[in-house]
Amino acid sequence: MKRPETRIIHTRGARLGSVTVNPPVERASTVLFRTEEALYESKPGYGRMGLGVHRELEAALGELEGARHVRLASNGLQACALAIASCVDAGGHILIPDSAYGPTARFCERRLTHMGASCTRYDPRIGAGIADLIRPETQAIFMESPGSLTFEVSDLPAITAIARERGIPTIADNTWGAGYFLKPLELGADIVVHAMTKYIVGHADAFGGAVITSDERLYNRICATSEDFGIGLAPDDAYLALRGLRTLHTRLKAHEAGALELANWLAERPEVAEVLHPALPSSPDHAIWKRDFSGSSGLFGLVLNAIPEGGMDRFLGALHLFGMGFSWGGYESLLIPCDHQLTRSKGSWTDTRPGPLLRIHVGLEAVSDLKAELDTAFAALKGPA
Ligand SMILES: Cc1ncc(COP(=O)(O)O)c(C=O)c1O
Repeated sequence: MKRPETRIIHTRGARLGSVTVNPPVERASTVLFRTEEALYESKPGYGRMGLGVHRELEAALGELEGARHVRLASNGLQACALAIASCVDAGGHILIPDSAYGPTARFCERRLTHMGASCTRYDPRIGAGIADLIRPETQAIFMESPGSLTFEVSDLPAITAIARERGIPTIADNTWGAGYFLKPLELGADIVVHAMTKYIVGHADAFGGAVITSDERLYNRICATSEDFGIGLAPDDAYLALRGLRTLHTRLKAHEAGALELANWLAERPEVAEVLHPALPSSPDHAIWKRDFSGSSGLFGLVLNAIPEGGMDRFLGALHLFGMGFSWGGYESLLIPCDHQLTRSKGSWTDTRPGPLLRIHVGLEAVSDLKAELDTAFAALKGPA
């Protein structure tokens, strides 16, 4: 079997023999047919279902996750919502980690509730304890590992084993692992979702989502839900996601190395109380991370020690290479303060930390430049001597 980085480059399939390396982008709503039969029977019969570039992207994503079926969505949140809405009906119940991406949690707690379902948050480190939260009406368990903002790693095999015993579908948001560092389907998950917007697109210039499964029955439900909501992916975004996939492996290795170097450097800084990065041996999740992941990406968290009045503004004002903005996974480094977004209500994340929570995405710049900038920013944080 060829290596994953080789296989992801060679998923052109039926188009082999045509003249270009990359597929043409067909910008189309209308697809024309010559007969009434073809008009009503052909698939795809309408641009919303996607055309050539979408099929190539689906093939590549199936290869990435080792899955039979892929359904595309216009962004990562839509992919999460599509997967969840395909599993949970009125009267049903879903379990979500306390550290789920905020808008995914909001979909469950607001939209699903409007639709007559209910949602319970669980401690992302709950492991086999998930069994105690399962109710007769539980229809799905959502997982995201490491979790957003606080980076707890969940014991996916423990959770999926219990879900399988009870016949409950599991959904894993694998955006951080990017399809390379974590293989949720091999660890027992039924559905994987991706915000392709992050590492797969990789250049902060397009959105995309994907719902991936090998389960025929779930796939049929995902397709029906997607049709009902009119979910699709714009052809230019599909093209950019496919193009990004071809270089994903190489970029991820660079993000991984840069983030590890910076995380280790930050862990030694007196201004830093804790680095939230599961690949650091000091992380409480390191053992599970090491067992289940083959590497780590460029996104991690940081708890600062107590800072003086005005220190955060001075710190952020000294950053230029690190942009302050949402999203991550592109070639540029980003840093955001996160306390605004934290809505934790469960166990392992307590509010006893000494200072603010930051999230860093390490881009593809030289790490020495990033360290030099943070050094200056830490000096600014302290204020005039
Ligand atoms: C883990 C995770 N899942 C899903 C999403 C949503 O992706 P999108 O921004 O494409 O809607 C994000 C966005 O930050 C994310 O971090």
